[in-house]
Amino acid sequence: YFRRRIASKLSRVFERSEDEFISSLYAIPVSKKQQSPDFRLSINSLRLNGILPANGDLQTQTTALAHQLKQDSVVEEIFAGPGVINFRVCQTLLIQKVLEQLSKERHEFGMRSELFHGLKKGTTLVEFSSPNIAKKFHAGHLRSTIIGNFIANLKEFLGNNVVRVNYLGDWGMQFGLLGAGFQHFGCQEKLKINPLQHLFDVYVQVNKEAENNDIIGKAARDFFKQLEQNEPQAMSLWKQFRDISVIEYQQVYKRLGVHFDVYSGESFHQQQAQEVVEQLQTRGLLKTTETGTRVVDVSQSGDMSSYSTVLRSDGTSLYITRDIAAAINRMELYNFDEMIYVTDKSQGTHFQQLFQILLAMGYSWAERCQHVPFGLVQGMKTRLGDVLFLEDVLDEAKARMLRNMSQAKTTKDIDDPEDTAEKVGISALIIQDFKGALVSDYKFDWDRVLQTRGDTGVFLQYTHARLCSLIHQHGDGEEGTTDPSLLLDQRSISVLQHLLRYDEVIYQSAHDLQPKHLVNFLMTLSHLAALAHKDLPVKGSTPAVAQARLQLFRGICTVLGNGMNILGITPVEKM
Ligand code: ARG
Repeated sequence: YFRRRIASKLSRVFERSEDEFISSLYAIPVSKKQQSPDFRLSINSLRLNGILPANGDLQTQTTALAHQLKQDSVVEEIFAGPGVINFRVCQTLLIQKVLEQLSKERHEFGMRSELFHGLKKGTTLVEFSSPNIAKKFHAGHLRSTIIGNFIANLKEFLGNNVVRVNYLGDWGMQFGLLGAGFQHFGCQEKLKINPLQHLFDVYVQVNKEAENNDIIGKAARDFFKQLEQNEPQAMSLWKQFRDISVIEYQQVYKRLGVHFDVYSGESFHQQQAQEVVEQLQTRGLLKTTETGTRVVDVSQSGDMSSYSTVLRSDGTSLYITRDIAAAINRMELYNFDEMIYVTDKSQGTHFQQLFQILLAMGYSWAERCQHVPFGLVQGMKTRLGDVLFLEDVLDEAKARMLRNMSQAKTTKDIDDPEDTAEKVGISALIIQDFKGALVSDYKFDWDRVLQTRGDTGVFLQYTHARLCSLIHQHGDGEEGTTDPSLLLDQRSISVLQHLLRYDEVIYQSAHDLQPKHLVNFLMTLSHLAALAHKDLPVKGSTPAVAQARLQLFRGICTVLGNGMNILGITPVEKM
């Protein structure tokens, strides 16, 4: 509403449409020291959009424009700053409008913003998690799982049609090793009892043996060859590995609150991979090296290092060959408007090459594909030692959280402390992971992750739970009409000003696919909420004041919950 009003003023001065100004206006972060203006317009952005000439003196342009804009009952104050124009909106109107929107839109609060018009709509395919069967599910897969889930949630909230794909590492030479290994050291009984552990043990053992034993190496190559030729016996063993593993993964995903629409995998595309090679051949993109492998020159500069191998000399396909096939197949199936791959940054070159090869093959939609890389997590350990499986991390988070909770005094009225500990523990992991730029590495430290104070997931949940309990005790203030003049204090105004930024923050996160903007926003909201909770008592206030405050708290609680849901965190009501 306010952005529109200001844009309309600007549109009159420049005789252009209001829409051209919407994205140049942004809400100012709340500052502790001074009463900040609510919105800001950067003169540079007008220059960039060709609305103002880029060669004039910036400050002269700024002051001149500030003079031309007239204040009114909605926009009460307009003043020039260095290269910017500040707008302060009528504070009672601010209170009224934000509260109104909060109670009308609830879970959609901020999600219908005009700022989102420029974002990509349609079908978004997000490929994430994608663990390798038989190898360990490491911290990197945890990152991919929660980041991918966040991106998928965000796109879904923005109204895109989202397809969540888990592309299992279920093919390749390692299955030759695993198959051959299982024939030597495997045990059907153990496979039934603890499949991931057993497959992993076999894999470790066979790798060790293969180092000094050529027979194993040959057996592995033979086994994989049999798989590539769809030999029934080998296939049935492989299928057993795969099915059992998927069931195990699903249990962990359930704990994380993550689901997939499709479990695909590299194995699905091994036949198509051969067709890809033929297509590359017909298009003259293939070269044969001295050793008989088939490569694509992705740089067209003839430099060997830019060759990407797509076929081994024995005719078996590679990781990239299957990725090319998978991408083409997904385009045929879903006709996606964008496709996002979430993996650690070491695969950056792989995806660059993948997209280049697709373009070279004439698939211009490769431009709609994007890789979202993330950094390493160092030192993620449990009491049992290095993390082998994701489950260990979740168990550890839960156990530690349960211990912390038993020392807090409120825990006794929680119906299901185990479930709460699990949810809060997972929130803590997610927030820790989402605080910085995804591409950065970070050191993992349990104590820091689970702190109650500071910018942690525990603090976020705690704030949410406190507000829930307040509302539970006193009602949500939604039945009465709030007199805005009762919320003119600095605490309330700060919260409402901060809420004005919600759509911008969602926009930023959707634009660069980084959750940190939303995390920071929610942290600040929690800190503002804690101050408001302390200074604006409900108990002992007049009914009208109590009602107004409850409505404010209800609003904060809703936005906290909405934001947490996008991040992939389940908000708890008690803790
Ligand atoms: N399974 C791979 C790994 O664990 C990740 C798969 C990434 N996706 C892809 N389309 N290549 O490293």
